[in-house]
Amino acid sequence: MDGRLIVIVEDEDSARLGMERALKKKGYQVLSFAESPRALEYIKANSGEIDLVITDLRMPEMDGIQLIQEIMKLADDISIILVTAFGSIESAVEAMKLGAEDYLSKPLDMFELRKRVEKIVGNKRLKREVNLLKQRLDKKYSFSSIIGNSPGMEKLFEKILMVAPTSSTVLITGESGTGKELIANAIHQNSPRKNAMFLPINCAAIPAEILESELFGHEKGAFTGAVGRKIGKFEMASNGTLLLDEIGEMSMDLQAKLLRIIEQKEFMRVGGSEIIKVKTRIVASTNRNLDDLVRDGRFREDLLFRLKVVHLRIPPLRERREDIPLLINHFLKIFTEEHGKAGLEISQDVIRVLCRYDWPGNVRELKNVMESLVIFAQDSTISLSELPEEIVGSNGSHSQSGSDAGEKGFLNAEDSLLLKIGTPMADVERELILKTLEQCDGNRTVAARILGIGLRTLQRKLKEYGEAESDENTAGH
Ligand SMILES: Nc1ncnc2c1ncn2[C@@H]1O[C@H](COP(=O)(O)OP(=O)(O)OP(=O)(O)O)[C@@H](O)[C@H]1O
Ligand SMILES: [Mg+2]
Repeated sequence: MDGRLIVIVEDEDSARLGMERALKKKGYQVLSFAESPRALEYIKANSGEIDLVITDLRMPEMDGIQLIQEIMKLADDISIILVTAFGSIESAVEAMKLGAEDYLSKPLDMFELRKRVEKIVGNKRLKREVNLLKQRLDKKYSFSSIIGNSPGMEKLFEKILMVAPTSSTVLITGESGTGKELIANAIHQNSPRKNAMFLPINCAAIPAEILESELFGHEKGAFTGAVGRKIGKFEMASNGTLLLDEIGEMSMDLQAKLLRIIEQKEFMRVGGSEIIKVKTRIVASTNRNLDDLVRDGRFREDLLFRLKVVHLRIPPLRERREDIPLLINHFLKIFTEEHGKAGLEISQDVIRVLCRYDWPGNVRELKNVMESLVIFAQDSTISLSELPEEIVGSNGSHSQSGSDAGEKGFLNAEDSLLLKIGTPMADVERELILKTLEQCDGNRTVAARILGIGLRTLQRKLKEYGEAESDENTAGH
């Protein structure tokens, strides 16, 4: 039972008490009234807490039909059962027409009453539960495509949930491929505007003159070629969200118009004189440093101030490496499904190397690498030799940062000979080569690449160390 109320309105004491007792016995919360005007007063004041009103038809002052009419005026979701004297079927029909859900005839059968009540209240409870689940699902769904549980991303999710329900302008910055468009979309999906349009427009890809009419629309004859009226993106997304992607590339002239729209929520179509009001929510994104652009006189400072009120900065992938394994799994799942390679796995070594790489192209680059790995995979496990050279060969800024060396580098600095002063150079080289080879599962091609020496040099060295040639495992993919 979830504590919602049933109100009984019945002037006849025995019937009222009988119903009250029958329902309370079943655990319902019941409140009963002998006078209908007082009942109505209560219902009006507490309508949000009431599931069901059971009302008698014939009562002094205000009869059941009148009461139903009054209750129906309240916007809330209150169900009504009318109780009629035997034979007044017409009133029952009228009550149902007015919006009552059910009716019962006197003399009352308490078993029947409980059955009807349970049906109505049970449905309501179910509906509430479904709505609750839906809300939770909505919330989950709208973030489910954004992978990441690093502190940086968690903080970002929190901020999104805070700003999304508002209509305020949002600036999203981050390097290329960090997911700016994805975040802009999440803001829209988590806002009350989610059922209206989300329109992204790339300010860098469209020449300034065309961009203006794309954004604001134009009137017929506004310029050569303007054969009819065109509705711009601001108008189209009036109830939704407009993403101005790469806002740093917008011309100064358009920036002024944008500022006006943000401040006054109105604009004119190109070649028009009518002032058009819009409610469009604006999200702007860029991978440029807008402060630098302001300094260079290429971005309006007043516009930047307006945009910066809500500023979401997406950290580059190399600053949230704990997200990399999650993203690897995410894309592995997506691409193995897409390319029909179910069951394909990825070796721990590969994951380690991918976690160490700096990802200048951020998530987009990782996504592309994963797709290519899946497409070209020949065995059941993706191994180091399949990684692109620039990734295997790179050490990543991370490996020099000192902490947690074992995870980042192939060699664990602490128990390596390398740091012990006085170790002969030849021994250092030998250890480096053998450990690298071990980390590469004996794959000499990959080891040579990582070591930055030729394959034949590596083979010669191994021969010197007495590594049998029969162990050859280069396969030369
Ligand atoms: N956290 C993430 N989880 C899952 N996929 C992501 C994530 N971040 C980015 N992506 C994916 O990476 C690709 C690039 O993302 P997006 O286009 O949003 O980047 P961007 O910041 O707008 O880049 P650019 O500045 O180059 O336009 C998209 O395919 C996107 O789905
Ligand atoms: Mg983008």
